Amino acid sequence: MSVHIEAKKGEIAETVLLPGDPLRAKWIAETFFENPILYNDVRGMLGYTGTYKGKAVSVQGTGMGIPSALIYCHELINNFGAKNLIRVGSAGSYNKEVNIRDIVIAMAASSTSGINNSRFFNADYAPTANFELFMKAASYAKSKQIEIKAGNVLSSDEFYEDDVNTYKKWAKFGVLCVEMETAGLYTIAARHQVKALSILTISDSLVTKETTTTEERESTFETMIEIALSTLE
Ligand code: ADE
Repeated sequence: MSVHIEAKKGEIAETVLLPGDPLRAKWIAETFFENPILYNDVRGMLGYTGTYKGKAVSVQGTGMGIPSALIYCHELINNFGAKNLIRVGSAGSYNKEVNIRDIVIAMAASSTSGINNSRFFNADYAPTANFELFMKAASYAKSKQIEIKAGNVLSSDEFYEDDVNTYKKWAKFGVLCVEMETAGLYTIAARHQVKALSILTISDSLVTKETTTTEERESTFETMIEIALSTLE
């Protein structure tokens, strides 16, 4: 048991899917896993372990934002031996080529978070995806003719930005979308020499101001989970 996760040693698999929303973790476990077992409900941050096509896999809610996600990633890695951390989340499009319901794989993550600025004394660190997990996910998508987009994303500390035009600067530099956790995930994975990947579905667009309905989000979410689970093979 760790501070925020009440599982016993051995109850969490080496591959862990990481949605921000704990109820998404429940839905993923109940929809995709064989024999899911709840191992955590401390603070309602649900975590389950089961199997997928016979292989052990877990899913753990992380909450929103880098500080919350880092707590769960730290404990999963250091207390439970997690080796493959795969974020499955939603993001807002920053780019007119990226439409709602698209799936984006984060090759790298820029950030407005101060965490790496202080860690690296104001020098820039480039948090990047694990190449092996990235290739597995991209190859699976290609083999199933699932269209994905891949590139730089922004991990923001603010969901509600003061200036609604801020996104334009990032878009000019090729950033595809905004979410709130990937830069933290890629940094902590690198620090502990484990693998990480972030797969995102576009739930809203800062360019067109469109949003998706709950039903629309669900069906794209299923495809994203299928891609994430394909990395187990
Ligand atoms: N996740 C989904 N949409 C988002 C947005 N617009 N900003 C930050 N995170 C998001």
